[in-house]
Amino acid sequence: MPTARGPTTSRTRYRLALMAAGLLACEQNGQSVLHPGGPGAERIAELWWLMLAVATAIFLLVLGVLIRAMTHKGSEAEPRTVTDDRAHTKWVLAGGVALPTVILVPLLIFTLSTLAGLMPPKDSTAPEVVIAGRQWWWDVQYTTGDPRDDLRTANELHIPVGRPIRIQLRSHDVIHSFWVPSLQGKMDLVPGQVNTTWVQADSAGVYRGECAEYCGLQHARMQFRVIALPEAEFATWLAEQRKPARAVSDSAGRAGQAVFLRSGCAFCHTIRGTPARATSGPDLTHFASRSTIAAGTLPNTRGHLAGWISNPQAIKPGNLMPRIPLQPAELHALLAYLGSLR
Ligand code: CUA
Repeated sequence: MPTARGPTTSRTRYRLALMAAGLLACEQNGQSVLHPGGPGAERIAELWWLMLAVATAIFLLVLGVLIRAMTHKGSEAEPRTVTDDRAHTKWVLAGGVALPTVILVPLLIFTLSTLAGLMPPKDSTAPEVVIAGRQWWWDVQYTTGDPRDDLRTANELHIPVGRPIRIQLRSHDVIHSFWVPSLQGKMDLVPGQVNTTWVQADSAGVYRGECAEYCGLQHARMQFRVIALPEAEFATWLAEQRKPARAVSDSAGRAGQAVFLRSGCAFCHTIRGTPARATSGPDLTHFASRSTIAAGTLPNTRGHLAGWISNPQAIKPGNLMPRIPLQPAELHALLAYLGSLR
C-alpha cells in the first residue's frame, strides 16, 4: 500500500533525524558521558571504553569462530572418534570456563575499583549542598552548619571549579534520580532516606543534568544545570545569594511586590526580606539571576515568564503551580518585580 508506506517511511526518517539531532545536541550542550568534565565522570568513561573494547574483541572473536564453523567442511562419512570428543571438551572448557574467567575477573576488579573511586570524598570543604527532588523541580540548599549562612535556590547548582562538592539527596514525594552525565553517575533521591553523592568540574562551564528516574507526568521536564565557576567568582556568587532580596525602589517594583504578596504567590514561594516564607515552591529571592524557569523548561525571559504565570498548566501540565487570574497591569507589575530580583 504505497499510500500507507509513504508517511510511515517519512516518519521513520523523521525519527532517525530527531535521534541523530538529539545525540549531536547531547554532545554539544554539556551533557555527554563520553565527554567527562570531572574526575567522577572520567572514571565512569574509562570503565565504559574498556568494556566497549573488551566486548568488541569478544564479538569479533565469536564472529570469527562462527564463520570458521560455517565454512569449514568436515567429512560426514568419517565416524566420530575419542580424539574428536576430547577436542570438543577442550573447546567447551576453554570457551565456557577459562575465557570468561580471564575476561570477567579483571573487569570485576576494575569495576570495583571504579566504584571505590566514586565514593563521596570525606575531606570535601564547605559548603555542603542539600538537593531535594520535587515533582518536578530541584530544591537546592547550601549549608555551612550556621543557619544564618544557609541559602536556597532552585534548578541550578553553582560549584567552584576543581574541588569536590558533597551533595545530600532527599525527596519530598517520589523517587527521582540526580544525573549530570558529564560530571557524575546517577544517584536516586528516595523519600525518607538521605543519599550522598558529589560533583567536581575540572573547568568552568555549564553542565546539564536531569532527572533519570521516571517520576510522573513531567519527568522529562525536570532538568537542572551545574554551573562551575572559578573559586573567586563562586565566593562572590555565594555572598550575593546569601543576601536577602533587593529592596524595591520604583513604583512598578512596589506594585509588583504587592501583587506577589496578595495574589497567592506567597503561599508557596519564599522571597527572603519579604513576608513571603513558604517553601512548597522554588525560593525566588534571586529569581532573576537564574537562566531558566520551570526546571529547564523555558529560558528565563520576561515573555516566557509572562506565559508561565498566565497559564503554568498549559506549559507543564500537572505541575503544582495554579493559574492565578491577574489583570494585565498586575501581570506587568509582577513581571517587573520578579525581573528585579537579581
Ligand atoms: Cu524526577 Cu524524573
